[in-house]
Formats: sequence, C-alpha cells, structure tokens
Amino acid sequence: MSTFKCLVTGGAGFIGSHVVDAFLADGHDVIIIDDLSEGNMINIEHIADKVELEIGTVKDAAFIEELVEDVDVICHLAANASVSKSVHNPKLDFESNVIGTFNLLKAIMNTDVKKFIYASSAAVYGEPEKVPIKETDPLKPVSPYGASKVSGEHYVSVFNSTYGVKSVSLRIFNSIGERQPRYVIYDLLKKLMKNLCEYGETKELEVLGTGENIRDFIYVGDVARTFLECAKKSIVDGNIYNVGTGVGHSISSLAEEILKALNFTETTKIRYTGSSWQGDVSKLIADISKLQNDLNFEFTPFPEALQHEIDWFNKNIRDLTAF
Ligand SMILES: NC(=O)c1ccc[n+]([C@@H]2O[C@H](COP(=O)([O-])OP(=O)(O)OC[C@H]3O[C@@H](n4cnc5c(N)ncnc54)[C@H](O)[C@@H]3O)[C@@H](O)[C@H]2O)c1
Repeated sequence: MSTFKCLVTGGAGFIGSHVVDAFLADGHDVIIIDDLSEGNMINIEHIADKVELEIGTVKDAAFIEELVEDVDVICHLAANASVSKSVHNPKLDFESNVIGTFNLLKAIMNTDVKKFIYASSAAVYGEPEKVPIKETDPLKPVSPYGASKVSGEHYVSVFNSTYGVKSVSLRIFNSIGERQPRYVIYDLLKKLMKNLCEYGETKELEVLGTGENIRDFIYVGDVARTFLECAKKSIVDGNIYNVGTGVGHSISSLAEEILKALNFTETTKIRYTGSSWQGDVSKLIADISKLQNDLNFEFTPFPEALQHEIDWFNKNIRDLTAF
C-alpha cells in the first residue's frame, strides 16, 4: 500500500485533526466522520478542500456501513474523551465509545479494510501499582470512560483473532499541543488570561488538586505520527502500545513551567485547591520500550511541546468565545 484511503473518525477533534494532517501530508486521501459534539470546524478549516467530511455519529451503524466501502485504513478516534463527563453521564461513553467501536468493527469484518487503528487510553490502567506502566500491567479502570476504552480494546482484539481484522490499539497518554481546547494546560492558560483581562495582572493561579499528580505529556504531532506509522507497518498488527514519552511531570512543575514560559514567575503565586475529582488518578507514566522497539520513535521534548500549545493559544484563543 503506497497511498491509501483513510477514514478518520473524530477527525474534527483535537488529536483527530492532527491525524488527518499527518495522513494528508504523507499523500493519502482522507474521509472524516465527526458528529461535531466536541470537535470544531475551525480545526479542519485549513484542509477543508482536501478532505471529504461526513457529519454523523458512529452510533449509527447504517451510516457507517456506507462509508467504510473502499477504505484501506481506519483511525478510530471518535469518542467522548472526557473522564469527568463520563462520570456524570456514563451512558454517553457506553453508546459513543463502546457501541461506536463495535459498529465500526462489525462494518469492516467482511471488507477490504487493511488496518483498524484504535485510540485507546492510559485510563485503561486506572491507578497503576507502579510506574512506568507496561502494556502487560493490570487493567483496572476507575471511570466509565476507562471502562469504555477497555471494552473497545477487547472488541478490537476479538475481531482481530476471530475475524482477522488487522488492528492495533494505542493507549494514548496525556496529549498536548495545538487545538486542545480543554484539560489542564488550556485551563491554566485561560485562567491566567482571564486574570489579566479582569485585573490587569495575573497575581494568582488556581490549580485544581494538590499539584502532586504526575502525568506523561506527549506532543499531539507525535501521537498523529504514530497513527501514520501504524498504518504503514505490519509489525504492529494485533498489538497494543503505550503512546507516551516515558517522562513524568508533576502538575506543580507544569504550572511553574507555564509561568516561566510566559514570564509570570515573579508576579504570580500558585494556589492549589487541594481536592481531587472522581475518576482522577495520581500517577501515569508510560513504559514506551515496546513502541520504540517496533517503531523506532523519537518524541518531541516537553518544553517544545508545551510551547506549541502556548503559541497556538496566544494566536487563536484571544476571543474566548471561539471554543
Ligand atoms: N486527549 C488525550 O490526551 C487523549 C488521551 C488518551 C486517549 N484519547 C482518545 O483519543 C481520541 C481523541 O481524543 P481528543 O482529545 O482529540 O478528543 P476530542 O473530543 O477533541 O475529539 C473527539 C472527536 O470525536 C467526535 N465525536 C464524539 N463522539 C462522536 C460520535 N458518537 N460520532 C462521531 N464523532 C464523535 C467529537 O466531536 C470530536 O471531534 C478519543 O478517542 C480519546 O478517548 C485522548
């Protein structure tokens, strides 16, 4: 397969739009399915004339069946991606994430689709017993979101072993970069900007939790590149990979890095709220030796990845109503 037709579900979302960019830049044709529940046309306006966009939901089996004909590769990212939303509305994850994944797998079991690449998540591990986490470590999700991703992975693996659907599951850790309109970095940048607008100074930065939680932040462009490499390489078939960097950062060090990058260190005091929230876990760091062995991957250093998100924010989120 030198060039192929790739269907990206969730292609108008944060990671999905970068996956679309990566496949287009490598010369492939792309169809996007997105229901725009969280995605945004702004994310794909720069490539609007280069892709086919199908607005609809992966919950609709008939809609999907029509679209998988003639497709070579599927990158499946459409899902509710928010842990807290899943805690408040677990049915959302069951329908979009579990049934949606099942619908796609069922639609392709008797087709010529050559690769199904599933966006799983570090949330499948729950609170790990040790870090860095290996792919073989126990799966103990602590949120409906994590449970839906485990379920999706199991369907992917069973459709591989039972029906021969060539597939790979990517357990993505915390992605950061351009077009991320939520989660910790975005929230902190937004709070700083709000303070600046309202009070003319940043003064205090409120950070949820204790600041002690550890996350493995990976640049979204590296995640997108992993999808592309998986589409091209048969070594990944039937496998599951952690997609992170192997480096942990505390939320307190992240907040300090952000202040440093914006030159606010002298003027801004960080205040932690202290309390955690349901579905939150204290430590996530990926063991990425399997991915590095099979795909020989180099990851973008954290300060550079953070700067990508800050630059995007400064350029695009001046008007907070845009997202
Ligand atoms: N962002 C991360 O750090 C992270 C980490 C681990 C896994 N993931 C997974 O990667 C994928 C993308 O996450 P994201 O952060 O880009 O989230 P996102 O919300 O920006 O993207 C998800 C996209 O899917 C669309 N969508 C949701 N439900 C749909 C449905 N039923 N039918 C069609 N489209 C639907 C949304 O409109 C959105 O455009 C998700 O599967 C998520 O679980 C993300």
